[in-house]
Amino acid sequence: MPPPQNAESRQAKPRLGFENLGLGVGLRAPHFGYLLKHWPAVDWFEIISENYIDSQGRPRYVLDQVAERYPVVMHGVSLSIGSTDPLDFEYLGKLKKLAGEIGARWISDHVCWTGVAGQNTHDLLPIPYNEETLRHVARRVTEVQEFLQRPLVLEDPSSYVTFAASTMTEWEFLTALTQETGCGLLLDVNNVYVSSVNHDFDPVEYIENIPWQNVVQFHLAGHTNMGDYCIDTHDGHVIDPVWKLYQLAHQRTGGVSTLLEWDANIPDFPTMHAEVLKARQLIQGEPIVAAQPQEKQPKTSTVVPHPAHHIDHEVG
Ligand SMILES: [Fe+2]
Repeated sequence: MPPPQNAESRQAKPRLGFENLGLGVGLRAPHFGYLLKHWPAVDWFEIISENYIDSQGRPRYVLDQVAERYPVVMHGVSLSIGSTDPLDFEYLGKLKKLAGEIGARWISDHVCWTGVAGQNTHDLLPIPYNEETLRHVARRVTEVQEFLQRPLVLEDPSSYVTFAASTMTEWEFLTALTQETGCGLLLDVNNVYVSSVNHDFDPVEYIENIPWQNVVQFHLAGHTNMGDYCIDTHDGHVIDPVWKLYQLAHQRTGGVSTLLEWDANIPDFPTMHAEVLKARQLIQGEPIVAAQPQEKQPKTSTVVPHPAHHIDHEVG
């Protein structure tokens, strides 16, 4: 294991060779029947890894059929790369096996932790952004990449709290992490927007300072505006300010694989697919009909609702 690098000695690694798969959507159970019947002209699909690693039933049958016809990317929610628990090599082994079986183009998860002391919170919890956590996470990313024998792709989380122990911004942390590990970044543009509202930072400044050479994928999604804060619910259309951030991000990368996440109040497949296809119009400079920011939701509880988690048995 090489000694940890400090900020001055970090050197950027070469740009990752990930292909641009185009405009994709998440593979979701309510659409299985439609997909098997119509095989729509979708560029690619992203799966939630946890929905398939232990399944040999219909979900796995559908996935195999899909993987024969479309590029597939695996997106997980259980890696818990920021936790102090040991890495779960049984889980990683299952990821690696499934990735081999379906020819997954890459494997992604989130810059977060999901539990500690063997307890899974089923939440994507934020980490403090400082040198200590950077060294911790970078060491674990390197271990995971060596085990999977491929670059790991990590997503910026949406968050609702920050840590007094943080000494750097999220984009500075992500920049340092990519420089130390060579990992790819999945930039969730909606998450940037949600967190910018929740923590009162400028989302454009975030986008402008992301290490673009490592961004290999975008996420787009809808969210719920509670007035004082936003929740990453993945339950509706992408709003106009998020499309504007996407446009900026697209310009910075020159185009990388783009994926729409829709995990609650899931519409029929053509409606969901049409939403991500707006990105093509936007890229080509055509006007799009974008959803406007929601009005403040009526406050019925002081408890923050559970953010979207994408896992079939939880989403229902
Ligand atoms: Fe996302």
